[in-house]
Amino acid sequence: MARNLLSLNDLTADEISAILKRAAEMKAARAETSANGALTGKSVGLIFNKPSMRTLVSFRVGVYELGGHAVHLPETHTQFGSSREPISHAARVLSRYLHMLVVRTFAQSEIEEWAKYADIPVINALTDQFHPCQVLSDMLTVVEHKGGLKDRVIAWVGDGNNMANSWINAAALMGFALRLAVPKGYEPDPLVVKAAQNRKADIVVTHDPVEAVKGSDIIYTDVWASMGQESEAKTRAEIFKPYQVNSALTAHAPEAVILHCLPAHLGEEITEDVVESPRSAVFDQAENRLHAQKALMEFLITG
Ligand code: CP
Ligand code: NVA
Repeated sequence: MARNLLSLNDLTADEISAILKRAAEMKAARAETSANGALTGKSVGLIFNKPSMRTLVSFRVGVYELGGHAVHLPETHTQFGSSREPISHAARVLSRYLHMLVVRTFAQSEIEEWAKYADIPVINALTDQFHPCQVLSDMLTVVEHKGGLKDRVIAWVGDGNNMANSWINAAALMGFALRLAVPKGYEPDPLVVKAAQNRKADIVVTHDPVEAVKGSDIIYTDVWASMGQESEAKTRAEIFKPYQVNSALTAHAPEAVILHCLPAHLGEEITEDVVESPRSAVFDQAENRLHAQKALMEFLITG
């Protein structure tokens, strides 16, 4: 049975720790990782039904640096799940050519369908519900900047979206505290919160951004309207205004490192001075996509 990463819950805490350790090794010796890598002679399909820059490029480069070959399958070519071809067929056909699939799409149920019919590992490269690869990379960034995950306090400010849901999964797995400040009606998925609380996760959901960031080690935000929510952008921009990560808010947590998964909408969820401040690690975080995903692919392919 192929191992998948459909959400972070597909990994144990020990496996995540091992992947983060391996990612750090790969980062430190990047030039040496390409020869005889875990994907030598193997091909990885990259199915992207939404736009991407970081995820697409870091996976393509990561596959190359592990010795493999990446096949990009943009939606314009494939239209899986639409009138052209059902996912149940495409997954079985592609499993006969490829050794791994990376899928960015809309509903989590779609990626579950890919995993159901594929007999090669399937990696979630973002769905409406989760973005596990981003949070793996973010945890590597937290380890680098704050020395570890245990007992850290992460403040999430903004939308209770796919990123927030993945942070909730991570908090339950890795044992750090998570404080989420979101507007009323934009809370994270209640089932994801409940499942994490059942695992004794230290999670607080509030509507007060100052309460969330006070005493935090990390302040994290993301766009107010995610891909697929473009028609709501205007309404959301009004509702989310009090949740902007700016110098007034970050002053409540002078030790906190600022993270954002990017792309950022400057002047909306975050101000340019905060992104450019010495406390921001957003570009380290973006770089870490490459290292964390290389370690993840190696883990999934070698079992
Ligand atoms: N953070 C992230 O996933 O970026 P892209 O949408 O550019 O891949
Ligand atoms: N929440 C954002 C993340 C982008 C990396 C989106 O889904 O568009």
